[in-house]
Amino acid sequence: MNNVLMDTILQDPRTITPNLVIDYDVIDETYERFLENFPGGLIYYAVKANANPQIMQFVVDKGGGLEIASAAELELALNAGASSDKIICSNPIKNPAFLQQMHQVGVYAMVIDSTFEVEKVARYAPGSRVYVRLAVDNHGSVLPLAGKFGVDQELALELFDLARELGLEPIGLSFHVGSQCLSVNNWVKAIAACGEVWHEAEARGHNFNFLDIGGGFPAGHYHDASIPTQETIGTAVMQAVTEYIPRIPNLMLILEPGRGLVGESGRLLVSVVGKARRGSDEWLYLDAGVFNGLMETFEGFPPVLELVSEDAHERPMKRYTLAGPSCDSCDVIARDVELPEIHINDRLMFFDAGAYTNEYAAAFNGFPIPLVTALNCKREPVFG
Ligand SMILES: Cc1ncc(COP(=O)(O)O)c(C=O)c1O
Repeated sequence: MNNVLMDTILQDPRTITPNLVIDYDVIDETYERFLENFPGGLIYYAVKANANPQIMQFVVDKGGGLEIASAAELELALNAGASSDKIICSNPIKNPAFLQQMHQVGVYAMVIDSTFEVEKVARYAPGSRVYVRLAVDNHGSVLPLAGKFGVDQELALELFDLARELGLEPIGLSFHVGSQCLSVNNWVKAIAACGEVWHEAEARGHNFNFLDIGGGFPAGHYHDASIPTQETIGTAVMQAVTEYIPRIPNLMLILEPGRGLVGESGRLLVSVVGKARRGSDEWLYLDAGVFNGLMETFEGFPPVLELVSEDAHERPMKRYTLAGPSCDSCDVIARDVELPEIHINDRLMFFDAGAYTNEYAAAFNGFPIPLVTALNCKREPVFG
């Protein structure tokens, strides 16, 4: 990580806030580690984490694929230079127009997880390759995705049969263990479940070669050792694949990292724009809040942050409630956060902000979404 360049920008008082500073060297290192830790795995970056055109181009330049969820993301993917066979869609709910567009451009494959969706795909994207999303244990992830998506093993088999009847081409399975997944065993159990369905589907005459282990790879091990490393997850996943998935020479082992690829590359620099004492609480108001950049704190992600100031170590420690700038009372970022004493105009820096920061952000109340500063980016965007 090029901390010198990053630190220079973060400490420069001329840097406008809020500002999301993305270091492409970190994305590059992380990408390479994925390839090492998941030998033979194919990276399909989950664009939803950060649809910055340069990041998408970076992945395409590395030979990776893109996982999209919407027509807008399809357009971005094509503009980034992705060939259609390097695009998949793992959003279980796709509107008819989007299905038609994916069909027209020849997106490689798409997910299904209900009979309605199978019928819709067969109608609007006939003949498509499809994979079923299995419902798997999401306990131990900071942001569980279970419940809204995924089917049990029995329904998965029914969906494969129905898809085949309707002229689609079932190719395999996917799952998502939940975002920022801290339980390595979730991947192992999910792959074991996929193995069971895979064998049963083969017995019914299906011919699979596609296993998509989704996202969920956590960020932040470097500041919290209890967060599993990519190495640990990779070892467990590769063992589980060997143990549970039939050995076939052309297995496509798909990874859809969002946060896991870009989370640690970004730092969000914000300014303190107000202070107040309310009862026994000291409040700090920042120029970014849950609406314009820090939505994930609202979803239960504990922010990791520090004061950017040379005299940070000399100031007495205090406890603060952190809030965003908007007039909405739910715009509270965190409570009881220990920081050196803070003054108005001080700057704070949030770590691991490369994913789900600007993608979630809206300029509610007129407070702008963060500017983006790219470090070590070798390529000018071809558009955007
Ligand atoms: C289908 C799918 N794939 C991949 C991801 C990326 O997940 P993460 O950012 O946890 O890696 C998501 C996130 O919601 C998702 O819904």
